[in-house]
Amino acid sequence: MSTPVESSTPKPVRLDVQRELERPEARADPFAAYARLRRLGPVLHWRSWFTESLVITRYEDVMNVLRDPRIANDRRNVADGGKGPLERWWMPSIMKLFLGSMVMKDPPDHRRLRNLVQKAFTPAMVERLNGRVEQITADLLDAAANKPVLDLIADLALPLPLTVISEMLGVPEPERMQFRKLLGQVLDPGAMNLAGFVFNYANMVRLNRFLRRLVQLRREQPGDDLVTALVHADEGGDRLSEDELISMVFLLLFAGHETTVNLIGNGVLALLQHPDQLQLLRDRPELIDTAIEELLRFTNPVGTVSPRFAREDLEIAGVRIPRGSTLTLLLASANLDETAFAAADRLDITRNPNRHVAFGFGAHYCLGAPLARVEARIAIPALLQRFPGLRLAVPADKIRWRASMGLRGLESLPLSVAAAGQRLAT
Ligand code: HEM
Repeated sequence: MSTPVESSTPKPVRLDVQRELERPEARADPFAAYARLRRLGPVLHWRSWFTESLVITRYEDVMNVLRDPRIANDRRNVADGGKGPLERWWMPSIMKLFLGSMVMKDPPDHRRLRNLVQKAFTPAMVERLNGRVEQITADLLDAAANKPVLDLIADLALPLPLTVISEMLGVPEPERMQFRKLLGQVLDPGAMNLAGFVFNYANMVRLNRFLRRLVQLRREQPGDDLVTALVHADEGGDRLSEDELISMVFLLLFAGHETTVNLIGNGVLALLQHPDQLQLLRDRPELIDTAIEELLRFTNPVGTVSPRFAREDLEIAGVRIPRGSTLTLLLASANLDETAFAAADRLDITRNPNRHVAFGFGAHYCLGAPLARVEARIAIPALLQRFPGLRLAVPADKIRWRASMGLRGLESLPLSVAAAGQRLAT
């Protein structure tokens, strides 16, 4: 799949990084796990049955790679880059459409697509959503309020972004339930790998059909929504083709869903596990903006970015990187790097400046960052305000994490909403 790594001096330590990071102990305590990887070296050699990659562990090197024009996102732009899954004959075209999005493109293709979508996905558009996000959050909290134990993931963190994006896209009201159900199945965290995608194939076909009908509808009946804006986005006469449009919408759904679920889920858990910081946020709600940035840095909803490829021979931290090598950037490790952040292992909601790399950096910097921030900035305080006695309903060692190196998120997070010692009316 990727070019073998040649010998270089110093030689990167060989390690199955994925196995290392997906151990339950590493999920629960990523600090120790990432600190160990950084100690092992700035570049590690990860080889498994399906990939061979050089893994970059430290903040400074991750940043340098993200700004380096000699690094490509599109394997096809690298001579000797080898074939990726998207170029395989057996890969169904619908997968190519969904997976071959702008994250995997380089200039000029990437710039063209990004300019077009940026016209539609403006910070002002996101800012206008404030009131709606507040209302959806309030409704979800109302529905959960009568439960003695709520599941933060199922009751709030998951349905909030799903509802927001369905509305943003302009899915007509009568079809929203169906759309949300379909999306929930396609974006099921359990399906967030190639095997899951293959298993989910029938749902992807249905989603593709649904999105094409939506695009058609918004061509004929424009609304004040994202699909309408994408249909009409025009850059000097250039427009998105229908396939590009579908691919873009799918990217927004895929990139924006579980990531935001993880920010809200991991963020609330981190606050509950750091009662001093939780109390500080309750006492000084105006700290919410720096708190969200710190929760992004500290809890790392996204652990790695999409793979990068060396266009030419280069050197990272003194290690020779042969042309064609696949690079895996450990964003989470960069965010916890003690050489970049003072007391990196401490959650400090007042941390400012906070130059975390949770949304990436450079040309592919997260397009949805303003939306993710709005949702978390509203959902987390609303939850804390509604339930002053909020606490974990299970011991910390019973909290279940999903096994995924790319994304760090909880399967569920049972929370008691009654103050300690208080009994709920039955
Ligand atoms: C806490 C929530 C989120 C986190 C931590 C996050 C993180 C990231 C990261 C690290 C990247 C860079 C990928 C790379 O360089 O390979 C990225 C890109 C992207 N994100 Fe997000 N994201 C979040 C939410 C969202 C949302 C809500 C949306 C949209 C609805 C979104 C849409 C995108 C898109 C379209 C890209 C690709 C940008 C490009 O290639 O130019 N993200 N995100």
